Amino acid sequence: MSDDVAQPSPSENAHLRRFHDLEEMSRAAAEWVTQLAEQAVERRGRFSLVLSGGSTPQRLYELLGTPMCHGMPWEETHLFWSDERFVPKNHPDSNYASARAAFLHRVPVPPDHVHRVPTDMPSPEHAARTYEERLRLFFLEAGASHFDLVLLGLGADGHTASLFPEHMEQQETDEAKWVKAVIAPPTRPPIRRVTLTLKALNSARRALFLVSGAEKANALTSILDRTSESRRFPATRVRPTEQLTWFADDAAFGR
Ligand code: 6PG
Repeated sequence: MSDDVAQPSPSENAHLRRFHDLEEMSRAAAEWVTQLAEQAVERRGRFSLVLSGGSTPQRLYELLGTPMCHGMPWEETHLFWSDERFVPKNHPDSNYASARAAFLHRVPVPPDHVHRVPTDMPSPEHAARTYEERLRLFFLEAGASHFDLVLLGLGADGHTASLFPEHMEQQETDEAKWVKAVIAPPTRPPIRRVTLTLKALNSARRALFLVSGAEKANALTSILDRTSESRRFPATRVRPTEQLTWFADDAAFGR
């Protein structure tokens, strides 16, 4: 069983749940996402979900394609990505390719509800402009202004999506944009990426961070303890309109 951990929250309305390991956290996240999806469709007839990349959510994605998540309203679900590596859609580094392999090919989500970042464009800048246009059109046609849920990971350096501490100053000037092209640090290849900006991420009703592994412990505890160092972490700037939730395993708590 997970423990609801009474901890200083990274923001006023943050919730934090702790799990023994990645498997337990992923199963809880699968139930949580499914319940939220059912609620969103009941209230608004649609569930718009932003998928994060990286390895942490992969087990959650696998579970989304299993009978455990038979309640997921796939016909009314729209899928987006928080960021994408500028590689072909079938490249092993592609966040879209990872999600497709994990569950997309097993669930009845309508193909035109899968809004992947168009990495088949001539440049990351072109892909970012096109993705932003598609997002704006989606919200206009849906008469909506919010993603329902954004799933996010946490890097050991406090990055999230492809928003890195090195770019923090740039983020202020990018605020009007929803999507931008960035160059990731050389330690995080592939370096050419397209990412949602904080403005787009923070338009979401809810955000769920999934954090697993000892290598994240410094960044996670720094954020939870609101250290001065954490103020330069893009992850600290994620402020959804309704609720921020952190799921983390024991290893990510450093014990
Ligand atoms: C990406 C992700 C990135 C990821 C973190 C954590 O495209 O790589 O969007 O922000 O969530 O780097 O990655 P892991 O889950 O692999 O530790």
